[in-house]
Amino acid sequence: MLRFNRKIFIHLFFFLVILSIICMGCKNKENTDKKLEIFTWWTTGGEVDGLNEMYKIYKRRYPDIEIVNAVVAGGAGINAKAVLKTRMQEGDPPDSFQVHAGRGLIESWVVLDKIEPITFIFKENNNFEAYPKGLIDIISYKGEIFSVPVNIHRSNVLWYNKKIFNENGLTPPQTIEELFKLSETLKAKGITPIALGDKEIWVAVHILENILLGIMGEDNYKGLWNTKKLWKNPDIEKVLINYVRMMKFVNKDHSALDWQGASQYIIDGKCAMMVMGDWAEGYFKSKGLTPNKEFGWKPFPDTSGAFLMLSDSFCVPKNAKNRNAAINWLALCASKEGQDAFNPQKGSIPARVDTNENLYDEYLASAMRDFKKDIIVPSVAHGATASEVWLKEIESAMASFLSDLNIEKAFNKLSEIAEKNIK
Ligand code: GAL
Repeated sequence: MLRFNRKIFIHLFFFLVILSIICMGCKNKENTDKKLEIFTWWTTGGEVDGLNEMYKIYKRRYPDIEIVNAVVAGGAGINAKAVLKTRMQEGDPPDSFQVHAGRGLIESWVVLDKIEPITFIFKENNNFEAYPKGLIDIISYKGEIFSVPVNIHRSNVLWYNKKIFNENGLTPPQTIEELFKLSETLKAKGITPIALGDKEIWVAVHILENILLGIMGEDNYKGLWNTKKLWKNPDIEKVLINYVRMMKFVNKDHSALDWQGASQYIIDGKCAMMVMGDWAEGYFKSKGLTPNKEFGWKPFPDTSGAFLMLSDSFCVPKNAKNRNAAINWLALCASKEGQDAFNPQKGSIPARVDTNENLYDEYLASAMRDFKKDIIVPSVAHGATASEVWLKEIESAMASFLSDLNIEKAFNKLSEIAEKNIK
């Protein structure tokens, strides 16, 4: 009996030892990640500066983890999104990737069950109060949150070179008609009115969404993404007519430049104005410019009172190799510290509403004010309001429009695409 008990005891002892080794292993798993691969399309100017600020904090918090900065150049993720898709299909996900908040996130990844719900990060850090409800809504699906927004960008901004405006006694245009009148004046003086770099086709959709909002107004602009008949509205024709009018005033080499190249034309005084999201502000600052000194800004003509928004967020794919390191990255993206380090450089405002306003320059402070009081409308060029499939089709319609400037053809194409994509 005694021998029998001793045997059981010895077996039990070894069983418990092995069990505790296994448990310790599980517990320590949190600390076993040695790497963190972060995938973005941020390669220049304020984008890199902002990202590096967050990397610095991460390295301070987790000195043993090596950050692998996986970047694929191309504005609006035009190339990165394609590379990411291939990697995900091949079962080689990065640990965390940049993704536009909104339908791009939900339809490309969430409904296909490719990324993890991360509602627990919001819960653990009490983030529900800190984020605008509208933003939480567009990153949620069936009661779970799927990404962490790190910023809010504004798409409907007209930037201008202050020296050109001051020297010629000009004031920034409030309406599209004023924009063209001013452009005539500048042209007559031998100054190229509008800087454009549409080598990457997303820029054409970016301009399109600005004119759509200006001509159609907030309600109809919002309606476009779920109402087929709005695409047959004569306003769409007006939008395309104005797009063609604008092309008369842009730099000749526009199709050879990207958005950074066009921004450089504003810096160098080669052009007077530019339509671009506020990442351009980050670019100007990274080149040593000061807001309201060398460059000024206004909402795109006829869109004052509306904030065309998009948001960069980060998510964790299922089967990420370094999941715990990635979760910690998302927690940093969600934090005040992370957002206050990133956004002042990036040219965006924080996604949280409780950050330190003193850290933000004059332009960003004005964007924060506008975000609070304006009507918020979602950007199509930057993934907030159409599926990626639809967006790709709009991009290709715009590519053919740029090649022939055929208004009727583009009108029919855009409404045909909408017909197909609106359920
Ligand atoms: C946007 C993105 C911004 C900025 C811009 C230019 O889509 O949200 O963060 O990177 O493209 O690439």
